[in-house]
Formats: sequence, C-alpha cells, structure tokens
Amino acid sequence: MTDLHIDGKRLWQSLMELAQIGATPKGGVRRLTLSDEDRRARDLFCQWARAAGLAVEIDGIGNLFARRAGTDPSLPPVAMGSHLDSQPSGGKFDGAYGVMAGLEALRTLDDAGVRTRAPMEVVSWTNEEGSRFTPVLMGSGVFSGAFTLDHVRAQKDLEGISVGDALSKIGYAGTARPHKLGAYFEAHIEQGPVLENEGKTIGVVQGALGQRWYDVTVSGQDAHAGPTPMELRQDALIGASRMVLEVNRIARGFPDTARGTVGFLQVRPNSRNVIPGEVRTTVDFRNARVSTLDAMCEELKRAAKTIETDCRVTIELRENVYFKPCEFDPALVAQVRAAAAALGHSHCDIVSGAGHDAVSIARIAPAAMVFVPCEGGISHNEIENATPADLAAGCDVLLHAALQAAGVVAGASRAAA
Ligand code: GLV
Ligand code: MN
Ligand code: MN
Repeated sequence: MTDLHIDGKRLWQSLMELAQIGATPKGGVRRLTLSDEDRRARDLFCQWARAAGLAVEIDGIGNLFARRAGTDPSLPPVAMGSHLDSQPSGGKFDGAYGVMAGLEALRTLDDAGVRTRAPMEVVSWTNEEGSRFTPVLMGSGVFSGAFTLDHVRAQKDLEGISVGDALSKIGYAGTARPHKLGAYFEAHIEQGPVLENEGKTIGVVQGALGQRWYDVTVSGQDAHAGPTPMELRQDALIGASRMVLEVNRIARGFPDTARGTVGFLQVRPNSRNVIPGEVRTTVDFRNARVSTLDAMCEELKRAAKTIETDCRVTIELRENVYFKPCEFDPALVAQVRAAAAALGHSHCDIVSGAGHDAVSIARIAPAAMVFVPCEGGISHNEIENATPADLAAGCDVLLHAALQAAGVVAGASRAAA
C-alpha cells in the first residue's frame, strides 16, 4: 500500500488556515485553552470533519472525536490526534499538526476509497498545554482516568475562571462517555534539535521523559524599600530568585536527561519601592528515570528549607503534575519504524522531552508517536517552523502505521490494489 499518499498541499493549507485563528504578529498563534480562539479552532475542525463525512462527538471535558466507520463496528477505533490549544506565544504546529495530520489521513482514505476493518478516529484533546489551567494533558488525562472530570472542572485560571465555566462559555461541554481505543498514534513536531542535527526526517518515538510540576508560594513581608535595613528584610523575591537558581543547578547536576525550568513568576505587590512580600512561581522537572526524577524533587525540598532560613521567608511547594517516564507500545513503535522504512524516509529512534497526549493514552491503550523536525529545534515560540515536505512525510507515516493497526479490507481500495 506504499503507493497511497496523503495530500501534502491540502495538509499545509489546512494548517495555515487554522493558524489564522489567534495569529500573532511574529507568525505564531495565541490560542489559550477554552478561550474564544480555541472555540473558533474547534468550530473549524468540526466543520472540516463533518464535511469529510466524519461523525463528531464531544465528551465532558470537551475532547473532540471525529469518527470514520470501519467494516467491523465491534472493533475499538484506531485513533490519531493531538491538541488545538497553544502556549500564550506558541507556534503554528505544536498540537495543530497532529490533529490536521489525522484529518488529512482520513480524507486520504476517503479519496482512495480505502475501507478499514476497525473504525478510525481523529481526536482533539482539551488543554494539552497546561499554561492557562493545570493539570497539563487535561483532556487526555480525564479520558484515560488519570484525573476525574469533577476535579479538573473545578480548576481555576489566574482570573478565577473555572474550567467548567470556560467549557460552558465556549459551548464545548459535551456528554460522550470515554470509549475503548484499539490503538492511538500522535504525529508531532519534535520541539527539539535531534532530528535536524541527525539529518533525519522521521523520529520513531520510544517514550517520553517523566515530569513533576510544582506551584510554589514564597512568603515574606511587604516593607518600605528605604527605611528597612538589608539584614531585617523578609524579601520573597530574593527567596524566589534563589529557588530559580537551585532548579537550574539541580537539573544541571543530575543524570538521565534531567531538565529543570521556572517559567512563571508573579511578584506581589510588584511596586518598585516595596520589598516584595509574596512571590508565586512554578517548577517543571523532567527526567528519563523515575528514581532520578524523585531525587531531584527531594533535593529541591532540601534547598527550599535552606532558603527559608537564609532569607527569613516560608516556601510552600504544591505538586500538581506527576507523570512517570513513559514507554510507548513496542508493537506500535515497530509499526511506525516499518512505515517510515517502507515509505523510504530516513528515521531514527528518539525520546520525547515534551509531554504529549499520547503519554496519557498509553495508560489505557497501545500508543506511539511520529516526530518530524522543526527548524532550529525551536518550539513554544511564535517562530516555530517546519517544512511542508517533512510534515507530509510524517503524515504519510502516521497514515500507514495507523492503517496497519486498523486493518485494510482487501479489494475495497481504488488506489492501493
Ligand atoms: C507540553 O507542551 C509540555 O510542556 O511538555
Ligand atoms: Mn504539543
Ligand atoms: Mn506545547
């Protein structure tokens, strides 16, 4: 069936049209989860899915499922997908590519008249990014049972708006119940430099780093910047600054692909002549081994105690995300590798540093991922870029790996006899 190819031009055009929604001046997108931009992207996806003859369902956390029937309705669907939400200053491809690639794969099957035994589905998961509402991987986490719907609906953003209210406001609180998946494949840009450096078109993703995230509150005391002697201060920003440096030191000092990031800082009262009395910040730790990841967190807790004493502040660490390192399904990973080889694309094995909905779904169904290079390895940035040729190659690999899992009905194909 390797003569069956997706339409790379149609895939690119769909991505560019979608990228108009929430477009930013530097060529990226700002499509925060459950925002009006997210609603418009969902509307467009549903419109395209229905135009392609797919049956669309929405579940309680707003995940969208667009299904193409198979010849055996008793089989669980083979799903492909990713997310339509973005970082506040995100790119055009993170997430959007996996959803549009899934849609393009199903459009291609229709064009070629290919029938599959299992139904096939394109999924758009709610709030993969976790930048407006935590936890990250929210929709796929609810679907896979990692979080309850009630728990995530109660989460609030910085303005005090809850997930439940935001979902109702955009009209995407549905009623579909979780269903079984036969397999799940996710195509994504790599978001790092490996494929570009290695000169490979396809990353055969073995698994993903584990993650532990914290919300951190450093509390001191507001005081006047002039009269208060340096040694009497309880400066929360000094405490928070030392935490930032500790996170960096820990990640540099631990093995097993350790990563440590502080990406959020909110200073109160944030006035130039007031010693800051409170800082809210975050920690994002990642590692390939669960024992090393846990050791990083223990080291952070020790460092926080020292900072509390040194800076006369208190530090509260609240963990809100804990994903263990994930290994994808060996049989599905082999299907991705075989599809890349059969289609003649250069490829290599790779581990994902980013979290993905496939990590959630791997808890309940066989899952695998296909990576394609992105320019300079840059992502979570408006300048994120990828070539039409690489995106088309990844979509072809996605289609063929997923077809292998769904099973092609012999003699039902115009293009692939
Ligand atoms: C998801 O974007 C992540 O932070 O890995
Ligand atoms: Mn993503
Ligand atoms: Mn992302």
